[in-house]
Amino acid sequence: MKLTVNGNEYEVHVEDDMPLLWVLRDELKLTGTKYGCGIAQCGACTVHVDGIAVRSCQLAAASVEEGSEITTIEGLGSPEALHAVQEAWVEHQVAQCGYCQSGQIMQAASLLEDTTEPSDEQIDIVMGGNLCRCGTYARIRAAVHTAAAKLREA
Ligand code: FES
Ligand code: FES
Repeated sequence: MKLTVNGNEYEVHVEDDMPLLWVLRDELKLTGTKYGCGIAQCGACTVHVDGIAVRSCQLAAASVEEGSEITTIEGLGSPEALHAVQEAWVEHQVAQCGYCQSGQIMQAASLLEDTTEPSDEQIDIVMGGNLCRCGTYARIRAAVHTAAAKLREA
C-alpha cells in the first residue's frame, strides 16, 4: 500500500489489517508515536489523518485512503520551526515521563485546528481522553491556552 506520511510517500508491504501504529513504528521507524493500550483508550498513539486526530492503534493502515496526509509528531513541526503547541509545551515544561506526550501534542494541535479559543472545559473534555499517568493535565491545559494564543497572533 502507498502512504503519505509527513509529506513523504512510502510504499509498504504489510497485511491489510496491520494497524497504522505498527506501520509507522516498525516499517517506517517513526517511533515518536507510542503504544499504550492498543484498544483506542489512552491516546498515546494519536496521529493526524488529513488534520483529524485518530488513534493509530485501532486504525488499519489499509483503511487510510491513498493520498491522505498522515502526520506524526515527527512531522508536526521541525527543530528549526516548532509548531505552536510544541513551543507552548516547552514553555510550560509539560512533560514528566513523556510517554503520553506525543499523543497529547497531536490531540491538542487537532483541537486548535477547530477551536481557536477553547475554554477550560473544552480543553478538559478533549484532552481528558488522552491519559497521562503522571497527571500533567494542569500543565496541558495551560499549554493549550498558550498555544491557542500563539496561533491567534500568527
Ligand atoms: S495505544 Fe492507541 S489509544 Fe492507547
Ligand atoms: S507524562 Fe508520563 S504518562 Fe504523561
